[in-house]
Amino acid sequence: MIKTENLIRQFGKQKAVDGLNLHIPPGSAYALLGPNGAGKTTTLRLLSTLLAPTEGEIYVDGEKMQRASKAMKSRLGMVSQHFSLQRDMTPREVLKLHGYLHGMSRRDRKEQIERLIRFAGMEAEQKKLVSELSGGNKRKLMIVRAVMHRPDILFLDEPTVGLDASIRRSIWDLLKKLRYAGMTIVLTTHYIEEARVLCDRIGMMSQGKIVAEDTPEGFMSTLPAYVVEDYRDERTDYSYFPDRDSAANYIAGQNTTATVRRSNLEDAYILHTDTKGSKERLRA
Ligand SMILES: Nc1ncnc2c1ncn2[C@@H]1O[C@H](COP(=O)(O)OP(=O)(O)O)[C@@H](O)[C@H]1O
Ligand SMILES: [Mg+2]
Repeated sequence: MIKTENLIRQFGKQKAVDGLNLHIPPGSAYALLGPNGAGKTTTLRLLSTLLAPTEGEIYVDGEKMQRASKAMKSRLGMVSQHFSLQRDMTPREVLKLHGYLHGMSRRDRKEQIERLIRFAGMEAEQKKLVSELSGGNKRKLMIVRAVMHRPDILFLDEPTVGLDASIRRSIWDLLKKLRYAGMTIVLTTHYIEEARVLCDRIGMMSQGKIVAEDTPEGFMSTLPAYVVEDYRDERTDYSYFPDRDSAANYIAGQNTTATVRRSNLEDAYILHTDTKGSKERLRA
């Protein structure tokens, strides 16, 4: 269980993280979903001991986080957003070095490397140089490197940013496998689909705060079921309705080329994180 109490991180006067109270149960997968600058990366860096909070506390299974604690660090794994791999090493060497730095025995390292190369389906790449790997395989290597020392909590910052849809799905499968093996996963993303597919809870973040938190199904159940999209005067107006009939009646009165569709998680995201008053468009 990860718990934070009024977690705050300031940079100068700006509160990048502004009073977070998170509860993330063991074995669950949690997504921090939000626009650029919302404070997602800062939150992950705080949770993974890379950054000190300005105020507030973090608890892991009831134990207050001491940033310098080796025992705490051994429980956590982190995959940063940017590629941070030694270009001139092979995947096996990358894993070996990580294990060495975490004080794993030679034998344990060897067993883990065999297991993880198979786990990630990287048998054919294990002896290539990192610089020769595809973007997807580099990302997979970063993920297995982060779990090499057997942490029970894995943090990932935008794990599939910049990857194409089919590679993204293979990364999702790798993360699902970790999750079903019992690992707690906390990730940030601005891909709504990623949060829906991988996570059982989503915290929507905006301006350093969690502005809404629920399961993907919970978000959908509180959202009006239909949307009218009406493009005019060079912008699209989105209006939300509880049922198809009221949406159709609205269109009939508009005399435009407006279209109606079912709402989706992206609509929930926009309604919660958009600061431009989109809540006023709820016509329920
Ligand atoms: N090291 C830093 N120094 C100064 N400002 C920072 C630093 N890191 C983040 N910020 C600011 O904090 C806010 C949140 O950033 P970040 O956590 O990276 O958001 P996100 O990952 O959601 O895009 C941004 O306005 C960003 O400019
Ligand atoms: Mg970020």
